Amino acid sequence: MNRQNDTLVPRHILVTGGAGFIGANFARWVARRYPTTHITVFDALTYAGKRDNLAGIPDDALTFVRGDICDADAVDAVLRPTAADACASGHTPPAVDAIVHFAAESHNDNAIADAAPFLRTNVIGTYTLLEAARRYDIRFHHISTDEVYGDLPLDGVERFNEDSAYRPSSPYAASKAASDHLVRAWHRTYGVRATISNCSNNYGPYQHVEKFIPRQITNILCGLRPKLYGDGHAIRDWINVEDHCSAIWAVLTRGTIGRTYVIGTDGEMSNAQVLRAILRAMDRPGDDFEHVTDRPGADRRYALDAARITAELGWHPRHADFEQGLESTIRWYVDHPQWWRGDKAVTERRYARQTGERS
Ligand code: NAD
Ligand code: DAU
Repeated sequence: MNRQNDTLVPRHILVTGGAGFIGANFARWVARRYPTTHITVFDALTYAGKRDNLAGIPDDALTFVRGDICDADAVDAVLRPTAADACASGHTPPAVDAIVHFAAESHNDNAIADAAPFLRTNVIGTYTLLEAARRYDIRFHHISTDEVYGDLPLDGVERFNEDSAYRPSSPYAASKAASDHLVRAWHRTYGVRATISNCSNNYGPYQHVEKFIPRQITNILCGLRPKLYGDGHAIRDWINVEDHCSAIWAVLTRGTIGRTYVIGTDGEMSNAQVLRAILRAMDRPGDDFEHVTDRPGADRRYALDAARITAELGWHPRHADFEQGLESTIRWYVDHPQWWRGDKAVTERRYARQTGERS
């Protein structure tokens, strides 16, 4: 790693899941600000990943490897230091000095329909990466979610922080909680230099149309009515993906090894409020949506207290104005129909099957 402005800047990071929503935003964020950091994206390109999400990152700053994090040989091949690393020829990226682990099955509705891929990728995949990080003594940052803490009452003021108990309530959240526990255990038992961050709901460009905000935007653009689960009172704590990226960088480069950092920007809003904001921004009547059956066991409220990362690492969000962030997100989907149109039909067919099974 190089030292720059009192920060350890990695020379080469491996970004797992870097062709997905947050991973691609992170790779782009790093490439813009730290052009001397080489980025290797390791991604299986499941339905949720697109190689094109990385378009525009200069070729000499990016290596793309299609691979599965559960495949120990493929993971080893990308992390094993080579002779070229030892002599640092300048033509070959130096050995990876940090893994930033995003790769996951990430969607709750899919996990409710079939949890098996979640256990495989989120648990076995994380284990496979941790073993490689241990073997080669590579710094490891694990991207996790606030859902590991379960949910809060709708009418309360309590918020989750790093000391909150693990109480995952959905199959997806349970798989992420398991992966967090593995990271903690590999740090304590084997000394893996690991950190974890648990973030709230992200929004922004490149988010798959299965997720709440892009689903409603693209429904409106396709002439379909937005779909609100249950009564719409459930609360999520929204964060602009750019702020998540800067927080991850802060933890990766300045965080204390062995620590967890909660990431949020005080963005609590009910699903109904978010949907109304989308309808307003897209000039639709406020009641132009339909209610559909909620998820079984649906979480009510998430809310995070990000005091630790602010106090310890001096991190502050720069995009906390939700209405503004939502408008630029809507503009991105309006301007990139070719990015989402193919996925839209497939996703809505999947939803029709899943909601049919639930009701
Ligand atoms: P995503 O579904 O958009 O992307 C996941 C990426 O991982 C895809 O590119 C996919 O191809 C890849 N992938 C899946 N299985 C893989 C495997 N076995 N091997 C290699 N690559 C594989 O997910 P996202 O929303 O960008 O979430 C990224 C991470 O952030 C996840 O770990 C998720 O739990 C966490 N997180 C997400 C949010 C959110 O609001 N989206 C909030 C907090 C934490
Ligand atoms: O909190 C962090 C988590 O946020 C991440 O760990 C997950 O990877 C990410 O997918 C997200 O999970 P949620 O389940 O909260 O996000 P989703 O966008 O799927 O749904 C947000 C809320 O909107 C939730 O209460 C369900 C509701 N919803 C969702 C869809 C797809 C609707 O009302 N209508 C919809 O069509």
